[in-house]
Amino acid sequence: MTRKLILDCDPGQDDAISLFMAFAARDRFDILGVIAVAGNTSLEKTHRNARILCELTQHTDIRVYAGCDAPLHHPLATAEEVHGREGLDGIEIYTPQMPLQTQHGVDFLIDTLLGSEDETITIVPTGPLTNLATALTRQPKIAPKIKEIVLMGGAYREGGNITPSAEFNFYVDPHAAQIVLECERPITVFGLDVTHQVLSSPDILARIKSINNKVAQAAHQILQDYSRFEIDRYGIDGGPLHDPCTMAYLLQEDLFEFKQCNLRVEADSPLARGHCVLDFWNTKPLPKNVKWAHHVNHEKFFDLLITQLEKYS
Ligand code: RIB
Ligand code: CA
Repeated sequence: MTRKLILDCDPGQDDAISLFMAFAARDRFDILGVIAVAGNTSLEKTHRNARILCELTQHTDIRVYAGCDAPLHHPLATAEEVHGREGLDGIEIYTPQMPLQTQHGVDFLIDTLLGSEDETITIVPTGPLTNLATALTRQPKIAPKIKEIVLMGGAYREGGNITPSAEFNFYVDPHAAQIVLECERPITVFGLDVTHQVLSSPDILARIKSINNKVAQAAHQILQDYSRFEIDRYGIDGGPLHDPCTMAYLLQEDLFEFKQCNLRVEADSPLARGHCVLDFWNTKPLPKNVKWAHHVNHEKFFDLLITQLEKYS
């Protein structure tokens, strides 16, 4: 029995690695569609990049949709200083042959969910949450159709990566994050606390480079470039594999340790926009609305990543 997924992303160098892992597991995942969102770079570039990645992996049957081109209220902030002007430094950027679906990504999300049985579709957001928040607001009846939301976003112990206290995805569209966090469906959250435990260090890059196929070589080039920025900024051993944590969880749940607790996001404070208010110690009688990932077995995580990349040989 394959698991029905809708991938909602802003490729994005780490989104790319997550897509490589997903496309290598189509024996386990029924990927209903990929929806691009504005985030790491503009929507035009994220939906183009998503199609480039489908062509690179020879999964051009995947349907790619353009979703929202700006956050709900704040102006778009991008991360091109990290991912490059085209949002996907490390590989050749070109105009893909495969078509962009004509339906808006939010309409695709609503129509697909409304046409499914309850609790059957898993949504995997790895960018700002604008698409899912817009769909939930426009058509609340989609909520019962969602089996689980498995998202990358937020930070608690790690502090922020776009401001001192905010992680990028929640910072770009904190209002969308609030809407999703209040949707009363199962939400599994991979924030910086856990993604900073899986760094694409030189030995990992060497393992990836030794895999003799086009996709692994592209992953190596992407991560080599991606790591440069992260090492310069944080002085750490490599680039954190944020978005691939979502796919690693869907492939091998026991890699991670979780805490069920309350998560809210500051939306408008000039000082703390996007800040996560995580009640890790359950100090207040608030709904424990998220399963918060706080630890990962990083050796097994990278073994899984390597295994997925080897499937393209
Ligand atoms: O903060 C990291 C997140 O923001 C990742 O999803 C990265 O791709 C960017 O979208
Ligand atoms: Ca992303």
